[in-house]
Amino acid sequence: MSWFFTKSVDFYRQNRPDHLLTQYGSPLYAYNEQVLRERCRDMKNLVDSPLFGVNYSTKANSNLTLLNIIREEGLDADAMSPGEIHVLLQAGFKPEQIFYICNNVSVEEMAYAVERDICVSVDSLSQLELFGRAFAGRRVAVRINTGHGAGHNEKVVTAGKKTKFGVNDDQITDIKALVKRYSLRLCGLNQHVGSLFMEGSAYLAGARLLMELALEFDDLEFIDLGGGFGISYYKQAGEGPMDLAPLSRELTELIQNFQHRCGRPVHCKIEPGRYITAECGVLLGNVLARKVNSGVTYVGTDLGFNVLQRPIMYDAHHEAEIYRDGVCLEGDHETVTVVGNICESGDKLLKARSLPRMQLGDVIAVMDAGAYGYSMASNYNNRLRPAEVLIGLDGQPRLIRRRDTLEDLMRGFAL
Ligand SMILES: Cc1ncc(COP(=O)(O)O)c(C=O)c1O
Repeated sequence: MSWFFTKSVDFYRQNRPDHLLTQYGSPLYAYNEQVLRERCRDMKNLVDSPLFGVNYSTKANSNLTLLNIIREEGLDADAMSPGEIHVLLQAGFKPEQIFYICNNVSVEEMAYAVERDICVSVDSLSQLELFGRAFAGRRVAVRINTGHGAGHNEKVVTAGKKTKFGVNDDQITDIKALVKRYSLRLCGLNQHVGSLFMEGSAYLAGARLLMELALEFDDLEFIDLGGGFGISYYKQAGEGPMDLAPLSRELTELIQNFQHRCGRPVHCKIEPGRYITAECGVLLGNVLARKVNSGVTYVGTDLGFNVLQRPIMYDAHHEAEIYRDGVCLEGDHETVTVVGNICESGDKLLKARSLPRMQLGDVIAVMDAGAYGYSMASNYNNRLRPAEVLIGLDGQPRLIRRRDTLEDLMRGFAL
C-alpha cells in the first residue's frame, strides 16, 4: 500500500487523495518529504568513505523544493542542460557541486557551464576537440562507454554497442592526444550503464572497467560510476526493494582497492535519479468515464500521457490504487485498460490490468511516479501541466508548483 496509508491515521486524514484533488485540482503530483529524505540517505550511506559522494541526477525530477531538500541531505547534482544548471543554482547548489554531463551540444552551451565554473563532461572525441579549441587549458571530464549496459528498456541502456553515448574505451589514446593538444586538465572520467537495474552485476562490471582505465591517467580528481539504481514498480505483486547490501559491500571493496592502487585520493561518485525521487511521488487523477469497446473495458481518466509519459515511452508498469470517499478499494476486481484524455490511440496508462471495479468520481493514484513523471510532462494537446504538492515532515501538504494556467500556454508567442 502507498505511503498515504503507511503513516498515522492523522496523516491520512490530512492528505486524503480526494481532498488533495479538491484543494489543488486534478491531476496532481503529491510528494512525501520523509520518503525523499530516506532515499537520499540510502544512497549517501551506500559506501562509507570520505572519498565517496552522491550526485542526484536532476533529470528525474527538477522541482525546486525537492532539489533544496536533496541539497540539504548532502547530495551534489548532475545537470543535462543549461536549464537544469540554472534550476540547480537557484536551488542553492554551488558550481563545484554541479557536474554538467552533456552530449552533442554547442560551444555556447559548454560556455554556459564553463563561465560558471561548472565542470563539463563531454561525450565524444569531436566534442572534446570542440571543447579544447574553445577552452584550452580548462578542466574537462570525458564520458566513457565501457561496453557494459543495463536497463529496463533498450531506450534507457546507455552503454554497450547499441547506444549513442560515451567514448569507447579503446579510444583512450585519442583522448590523451586531444587533452595534450589543447593543454586540457582531464579531471574526471564518468559513465552511466543505464537505468533501472535491480541487481548490481553490470554496474559493478562497468565500475571495475572504469577504474582500470582511470589508472591510466595521473591527475584525475574523480571518477563517476553513474546511476541506474532500481526501485520496485511491482510492490503489490510482491517484488521487494533492490537489495543494496551486496552492492554496498562490493562497491566499498572496489573503491578501497582503487584508492590503494591510485596511491592518492581520487573521489568516486554515483549519480542516481530514479532511486531518489521515484517512490516519494504519487500521481493523482479522477475517473471520468467508462465504456466497453469491442470487448475491452476502458476506464477514462484525466491522466493522459502528457502528465506521465513512462507507460507509452518505455511500456513502463506503474501500480495503481483506487479511492472512493477516502477509502482505498480492495477486491471486486475487473480487467480494464485505463486511458487518459489525449487525442491519441496510444494514450494508455495501464493496459489490461486487474483493478478494483471503478466508477465515475473515484480517484486513481499512480504509484512511484516521482521520477520521470513531472519532468517529462508536456503541454501536448495544450493541456495544463498539473500542480505539485509536498507533504512535509509535519504531515501537512503545501503547494510547491502551481498548476499551469491558460496564460502559460500563450507565453512566448510573438503577437
Ligand atoms: C548520465 C546519466 N546519469 C544518471 C542518470 C540517472 O539514472 P537513474 O534515474 O536511472 O538513476 C541518467 C539517466 O538516464 C543519465 O543519463
